[in-house]
Amino acid sequence: MPHYHLREYPLQQGALEIAYIEEFFNEFPKRKTANDIISRLQDREFQILMAEAPLEDGTVVPVSYKVSHELRADETDPALVDLVQRLQGSVAFSGRRILYNWLGATRRDWRGQGHFRALTEEQEVWAVSRGFDEMVVKTKNRYYDMRGALDTLQFNVIKLEASPDVMDAKVYLSKPLGLSVLDAHRSRRQVTRA
Ligand SMILES: CC(C)(COP(=O)(O)OP(=O)(O)OC[C@H]1O[C@@H](n2cnc3c(N)ncnc32)[C@H](O)[C@@H]1OP(=O)(O)O)[C@@H](O)C(=O)NCCC(=O)NCCS
Repeated sequence: MPHYHLREYPLQQGALEIAYIEEFFNEFPKRKTANDIISRLQDREFQILMAEAPLEDGTVVPVSYKVSHELRADETDPALVDLVQRLQGSVAFSGRRILYNWLGATRRDWRGQGHFRALTEEQEVWAVSRGFDEMVVKTKNRYYDMRGALDTLQFNVIKLEASPDVMDAKVYLSKPLGLSVLDAHRSRRQVTRA
């Protein structure tokens, strides 16, 4: 059974790492800079997690990452105000703690090896320990790999937002959190806190 090596980062160092990783292994447009990441995450609860694995020459590199943060009903950042509005009627905010899965991907040659499951399971342990009630994530129809992974990780579709191109329709998913979620975990992992 594989053993996953995960690392949890503080804000500054984590923002630099994520910006670097998005630069060279995320094939998607709209990559985030370190400043984007810092301004989004400062003043709120967040988690920056990465999975590491050795290259052929033995060098250990990040191969998968996940960035999540608290999402509140009273956001002031325009992008988050917009997100909260779109979630109205699909997610209950009152008296509950919502964790938003903001960024995440696995480097192409390392996909399908369980790194994203290991990150998600570790994230769930953290989220439950911090009292979060629900995890929310947004993707698009066109991202079949992400949709497949979220399906397997037992996220529920809570909203579909149509678009002129059906491939661009936005899919909102969520997973209720609680101790029972942790019972389904199966990755063997070790976490280093940088
Ligand atoms: C989605 C993504 C993060 C999955 O990462 P990964 O490290 O390959 O995922 P894992 O190997 O941990 O797989 C987790 C589970 O999802 C399943 N899964 C992963 N990719 C899948 C796919 N393409 N189709 C169906 N199921 C899939 C796996 O079988 C696994 O289930 P299991 O543990 O029961 O076997 C990766 O494919 C990726 O980075 N894709 C590009 C990112 C992206 O689409 N971004 C869009 C913006 S939201």
